[in-house]
Amino acid sequence: MSKKWIQSDDWKTEKHVPVIEIMKVEDGKAFVKVSVGKEIAHPNTTAHHIKWMDLFFWPEGDKFPVEIGYATFDHHGESAQGPDTSGIYSEPVTKFVFKTGKPGTLMATAYCNIHGLWKSEAELTL
Ligand SMILES: [Fe+2]
Repeated sequence: MSKKWIQSDDWKTEKHVPVIEIMKVEDGKAFVKVSVGKEIAHPNTTAHHIKWMDLFFWPEGDKFPVEIGYATFDHHGESAQGPDTSGIYSEPVTKFVFKTGKPGTLMATAYCNIHGLWKSEAELTL
């Protein structure tokens, strides 16, 4: 039996799929926004939330991908002190900025503490 470690789907209909938005490429730098829940909001509670997101870039012609960055959102509900006991909850949204001399393929991954690992890909052109 083969297991599917990383799930993928259309982010417009499946709320776990990370959305890669290439905001701009300027002076050889790529500005890339990664988020979960752009179309359908994912729960954002202590019990059920996106724990982290990761962005990789595989430059065209290179043998291996590069990890661009990693963001965690695992502090859910912390700082619930004093009269305000609602706590702090970050939305699963982050931005990465990196310099590259080559186009290539971006892969974002997102991990839900209940529904596992999800990914999406996008082409970066210069
Ligand atoms: Fe989930």
